[in-house]
Amino acid sequence: MMKVFLGSDHGGFELKRRVLEHLKSQGYETEDLGCVDTSSCDYPVYGRKVAEQVVKNPGTRGIVVCGSGVGISIAANKIKGSRCVLANSVELARLGRSHNGANVLAMGERTKFIDAPIKIVDEFLKVEEDKDERHQRRRNLLNELGS
Ligand code: RB5
Repeated sequence: MMKVFLGSDHGGFELKRRVLEHLKSQGYETEDLGCVDTSSCDYPVYGRKVAEQVVKNPGTRGIVVCGSGVGISIAANKIKGSRCVLANSVELARLGRSHNGANVLAMGERTKFIDAPIKIVDEFLKVEEDKDERHQRRRNLLNELGS
């Protein structure tokens, strides 16, 4: 079963906890890279940790959560080889995987969701990259940019 690295700041801690429980119940191998409680902390630390592990371990995925999802997704996208999609819907999770080849999913615990976060997670982990030439070409261009 695929391994999933998780990370959040205090603003995403509770949603990360729910996602972790769900993934364990589905049989995924998981590793929570922090934070460990709701004390105030810094999202770039955790976005970076998760993205670095995903890049080091091909075939794994990452899920990162902060209050808005924005800060931690920016952090994850700065790590070479990490491609993070910020999604509040199943549609964005699917497109982020199939077109863009995202290997990290970001969500914002304090934001409005179009679909339930667990459904977004399931879609992100299920969908494969679209092998169509035009999507491969665009993903290769992203690789040239560093991610
Ligand atoms: C923390 O208060 C908050 O700024 C953070 O979780 C996130 O929303 C940043 O983008």
